[in-house]
Amino acid sequence: MPEHAEFRDLYLSEIGIHRPFPADRTDPSEQITNEIKPEGAAVAPSPVSSQPGPPSLPATSTADTAVDGNRLDDIAIQASSCVACRLSEQRTKVVFGVGNPEADIVFIGEAPGRDEDLKGEPFVGRAGKLLDRMLGALGMDRSGVYIMNTVKCRPPNNRDPRPDEVEACSRWFDAQLRELSPKIICLLGRVSAQTVLETDQSLSVLRRNWHDYHGIPVQVMYHPAYLLRSPQQKRHAWSDLCELKRRYEALLP
Ligand code: URA
Ligand code: SF4
Repeated sequence: MPEHAEFRDLYLSEIGIHRPFPADRTDPSEQITNEIKPEGAAVAPSPVSSQPGPPSLPATSTADTAVDGNRLDDIAIQASSCVACRLSEQRTKVVFGVGNPEADIVFIGEAPGRDEDLKGEPFVGRAGKLLDRMLGALGMDRSGVYIMNTVKCRPPNNRDPRPDEVEACSRWFDAQLRELSPKIICLLGRVSAQTVLETDQSLSVLRRNWHDYHGIPVQVMYHPAYLLRSPQQKRHAWSDLCELKRRYEALLP
């Protein structure tokens, strides 16, 4: 069985769906979306056009925050020695991002945790394993998407990143997203959503609608770490995953 199918079945069994899918059917979402009745409001129809114009991501080259070159690898190398904010003091590794630079979908978490700080890769701990299963439920794996965080260094004791740290790290964040230029952004969790969308609305409100980030459609979803603490919400996350897949397929030529 392909790895993503195994992860998909694992995720579905975690939310109480044990129906076996024939090996040649990799798209369970259409079959079961309507079987799951989210307790909260359903995801509302998107206010964002399904054919967005070319994204106009923020420029990154003001005098003191210039990022040289525009290849993702070049940007990652520069970021790896960044000391632009206090988070550099206690980090082990800068956690830039992982995945396919050509990916259509980019997942954005909050900040590296302990495992990520040690390995230099986002979402490698328990939450990351659940993210892998969620990707599997979409019929995807890490090689088909790109995964990153709003800030690249671990905040001490996993506290929320502070506004000045987010601001300092935006030089890498902006350059990275510019280079990736995804078709869809998926924000994982409250901190990521509130930071990127510059809002103080709650996650339960934000996840009901599509949003826009410089012309790119944005979906907000529960953070896998939250889903580990509140497994009953995995069913809602599943309906969000189905919506993400639906939107993504509508964008394909
Ligand atoms: N949580 C995040 O938001 N990002 C990671 O990389 C790991 C856990
Ligand atoms: Fe630099 Fe971002 Fe790390 Fe701060 S969090 S030191 S801005 S890479």
